Amino acid sequence: MSILPVAWAYDHVRLIDQTRLPTEFAYVEIRRAMDMVTAIQTMIVRGAPAIGVAAAFGMALAAQEIETEDRQEFLDHLESVANALRQTRPTAINLFWAIDQMLNTARQTVGPVSFLKEKMVATAQALAVDEYQTCVAIGEKGLACLPAEPQRLTLMTYCNAGALATAGYGTALGVIRSAYRAQRLLQVYICETRPRLQGARLTAWECVQEGIPATLITDNMAGYCLHKGLIHAVVVGADRIASNGDTANKIGTYSLAVLAHVHQIPFYVAAPLSSIDWSISDGSQIPIEERSIEEVYKIGDQWLTAPGIDIFNPSFDVTPARYITGIITERGMIPPDQLHQLHA
Ligand code: MRU
Repeated sequence: MSILPVAWAYDHVRLIDQTRLPTEFAYVEIRRAMDMVTAIQTMIVRGAPAIGVAAAFGMALAAQEIETEDRQEFLDHLESVANALRQTRPTAINLFWAIDQMLNTARQTVGPVSFLKEKMVATAQALAVDEYQTCVAIGEKGLACLPAEPQRLTLMTYCNAGALATAGYGTALGVIRSAYRAQRLLQVYICETRPRLQGARLTAWECVQEGIPATLITDNMAGYCLHKGLIHAVVVGADRIASNGDTANKIGTYSLAVLAHVHQIPFYVAAPLSSIDWSISDGSQIPIEERSIEEVYKIGDQWLTAPGIDIFNPSFDVTPARYITGIITERGMIPPDQLHQLHA
């Protein structure tokens, strides 16, 4: 079964509702650009590359819904939807990258508004196909750079950097998927990833779908597993990589990287080149999203703590480049201190 979290369906966008997994597999039909804004905000669609693809389709929907023949009015409408989309998830650079791709298409395409509308859908579709192929390439390149011994590796991952978080296949989970298909995987340890449990809910679900051998642990068990020598390498995704290799990813990634460093276990970040923000020199400049405190004090309807307690809920953290063994992109694996070589 191939998992496609975002797909264009003739005149609307079909999203897998990731808030309902794993208890229910359901699609949501998105027909208006502002509904895509809400879907990204509420994490019906989530994961940096998937957010980028969803935003591109949101721009395509924006193009369809405006009734005008006036080019400037059309472009103004696109700009206003772009602004709304930009407010949704500040850390994921793919969001801004995809919106810019779509705006550039609209600005550079010559012809009547009807042609621009078609071109916007075609561009979003091409972007989705490209992202999928990029993930497959990341999987292949990542597989090639995993430790040579033993033949069957035990890997650890965090959050969900799988098909659900991309246009299909996945980045970190793409590497793990490729290792499984090449018979190089003994099993993957999945950290549950509080507060939203993307590991427990989504990565575990993806592994079960494909029969990838996987073991779920709570986040505070990772140190124990690394110390016991159970893990040969850790592979995670990225929401934004600074030009020096510092990497923002799901909150808790930093702790895992420090643990891997202390235990001398390779720690890889797998991400497309579009996740690199060349405009910033280091991770201190990455905006960190803070989400509702409800994510911490509740799971579903269940209160976990005493009402009235203060709560802090940063959604991402930044792992300094020195704790990262290599960054795996569609071009191969590169140590973070040489990342600048990939800058076009
Ligand atoms: O808050 P989320 O679920 O969107 O966060 C997802 C992550 O942190 C992923 O690891 C990252 O976006 C890479 S997904 C290929």
